[in-house]
Formats: sequence, C-alpha cells, structure tokens
Amino acid sequence: MSESPAAPFPAELLRSLAREHGTPLFVYDAELVRARTRELRALFDVVRYAQKANSSRALLALVRSQGCAVDAVSAGEVERALAAGFAPDDVLFTADLFDRAALAMLRRRRVRVNLGSPDMIEQYAELGAGREVVLRVNPGFGAGHSRRVTTGGAGSKHGIWHAELPSAVARARAAGLEVVGLHVHIGSGADVERLCEAADAARGLAACIGPSLAVISAGGGIPIPYRPGEARPDLARLARAWRAAEAALEVELDRPLELEVEPGRYLVAEAGVLLTEVRATKRSGEVDFVLVDAGFHNLVRPALYGAFHAISAVGCDAAQACFPQVVAGPLCESADVFTQDEHGRPEPRALPRLAPGDLLCVHTAGAYGAAMASNYNSQPFATEVLVDGGAARLVRRRQALGDLSRDEQT
Ligand code: LLP
Repeated sequence: MSESPAAPFPAELLRSLAREHGTPLFVYDAELVRARTRELRALFDVVRYAQKANSSRALLALVRSQGCAVDAVSAGEVERALAAGFAPDDVLFTADLFDRAALAMLRRRRVRVNLGSPDMIEQYAELGAGREVVLRVNPGFGAGHSRRVTTGGAGSKHGIWHAELPSAVARARAAGLEVVGLHVHIGSGADVERLCEAADAARGLAACIGPSLAVISAGGGIPIPYRPGEARPDLARLARAWRAAEAALEVELDRPLELEVEPGRYLVAEAGVLLTEVRATKRSGEVDFVLVDAGFHNLVRPALYGAFHAISAVGCDAAQACFPQVVAGPLCESADVFTQDEHGRPEPRALPRLAPGDLLCVHTAGAYGAAMASNYNSQPFATEVLVDGGAARLVRRRQALGDLSRDEQT
C-alpha cells in the first residue's frame, strides 16, 4: 500500500469514526498540533497562527491554549478569532486592501493592522482606530511550493515593494501613525534557505523605520513533508537566521525587538487526514479508477496546484499487492482527481484492489483542506472531528442539504 509521511490514527479508530459520522470526514490530532506549536514556541518569541490554513473554531481554541497569537486576513477571520477566545491584542489583521467589511470591523474591534499597500496608511489613519501599524514588505523575491503561492517578487500583489518602504514610513508618520513592526512573508511551503534570505532582507530594510520598531515578523511559509521520505524543515537554521537579523537590528536601533513567526501549514497540516469512502472502481481504457465520496470541494490542493497528498487504504495489509490507480471524486468536473501532477495529468498511485465500502485516508490534509472547501455541485461541507487524548469529538457537523440554499431567495 502507498506509504504516508504521517499516519497519526489507527485503522480501527478511523473505521469507527467513519461509521459514526459518515464520510467525507476530516480527522484532526490535537496532540500533534500541540507538538508542532511547542517546537516553534521554543525558537521564536511569538508564534502567530495563520488561521487561513484551518480556521476551525476548535483548532483556533487549541492553538490559543498553547500560547499562540493569531493572524487574520478578513473581517470574518477576526470575528472567528475573537469567538474562539483570542483577546483583540493577540490578533493581527493582515491585508493588501481594506474592503468595506474590514473598515467596519476595525471601527468596532481594536486589533493591530499589518498593511500591505501604501494607500491603506491614510485609510487607516482616517478611521482613528489606532496609531500603531505593522508594514508588510515585499523584499523583491519570493518562494513557494508552487508559483501560485509565491507572495514576493515583482508581479506579486502582496506587500509594499521594498524600494517604496522609506516613502511608506514617511507617509505613516505624516498621517500620525507609528510603524511598530516589519513583516515579510515571501510565500508558502518555501525553501528554508529562501526564508533565511528573507531575514537578511528584513535586516537591511528595517533600519529605515527607526526606533519605533518593536517587532519583526518572519511570516509563515515553513514547508512540511508531504511525500514519504521528504526531510523535515531545519527550524533551528531558520530561527538562527532570523535571530541574527534581530540581534543586528537591536544594536543598530539600540532597543530590544520581538521576533514573530506566522505559520499556518506547519501547525496543522500533518495533524489532519481526510477520510473518504470508495464508492466505485472502474477501468477506462488503460486507466484504473477508484471513485471516492470526497472531491475538490473538500480538498482542492491537487486540482489547484497539482499538490501531492499521500493516500493509503485504511487497514490494508502491507503485504497486499498494489497496482497503479487514479483516485477521483464525485464532482462533475475532470479536475476532480486527487492524484494529478501540476499540469493536471492523472498520476496513478500504487494502491491495493479496492471495493465499494473500503476507506481511503488522504494524508496531510489539516491545512488548506476544510479551509478552502466549497459547495460546488451543491456538495455540503464535510464533518470534522478532533481526536484528543484517546477521545474523539465532533467539532463541525456535516452541513445539512437544506442549508445549501438557506441564504437565497427566488
Ligand atoms: N502569513 C501570510 C501573510 C500568508 O499570506 C500566509 C499564507 C501565511 C502566513 C501562512 O503560510 P503557511 O505557513 O501556511 O505556508 N492554499 C495554499 C497556501 C496559500 C497560503 C497563502 N498565505 C496551499 O494549499 O498550499
């Protein structure tokens, strides 16, 4: 059977959860989230969870209980963070524009802002909501597991272009604001070496902010192993590079600084699996298909980025013969295939002979799975369960079919 990099749950538990809750079903492991959080808390002053990876209220409450702060990228994410128990002081609102909902939220909620476009400076000052701001800078280069998740370099819509930083700082001062933070996020699932280069860039750029600077943020983007045998990222190396930048700036500015990191994926990806039931198998031409009840409405990463997720047959005997099969979902769309490359070509996987009723486990699905889910084809959002200390609890019930058109009218 195909190997997985992280298989936190015993087959018996997955079978009983599928019986109790049905499929598709996300299952998260609380203890693994705690372990990942501890690793980063030991290296950085502040671990700010980028909830876009998974904004389930239960996971937000879990990372909060572990001492994390939180990043929010919309009014909705700010409200979610507060509902999960975060104090407004622990929330950073990061955006490249203020939509009207964000402006309305900022009038009500005292959360700090991280501005990614110079025009936001005066817009924020006009609100009179606060004086302190963080500026997000695009250092002129980016990195990521796919070109589509690279957030630095020319052509990226994110952040204030590095050469514009001095003028943005001057604009902020002129508007009566104080720049207390510098934030750099070059992309998602980025190479650790590139994340370290971002530290050097931050060090060079931060000096123009002067002594109001109190925080530097390394952003997120820490990669994780998706494929069997892939190495874990060297977190100590990452922290060393950023600590060196921090230390140099502390000398230059003659004041202590705080170092933040803003992981999404690193905290939750490996802790989650997507459990799905085989509903049919068939051969089309030379290709063997396994058709399952989960699709890109549950996990869009393969269809969107050609991302690899390990897939295993639940409870399958390691000695069982495997053959190449393409795993696909129920949507009326050809891209609804879990095993495909970045060009959308099906990539068969070695799996045992399967039959309707068998369960497949799609691994490393805790980040950007449920968070990117859609109701395409009027498929409801999946059930989510959190396993903690041997007990499993329902943290999101399956969306009812009747709720799919609840907000519509004829
Ligand atoms: N901070 C900022 C400002 C970000 O834009 C992001 C991700 C993060 C932190 C967290 O990045 P992470 O540590 O999770 O890599 N849907 C894509 C990822 C897009 C991420 C967008 N921003 C995926 O499934 O790979």
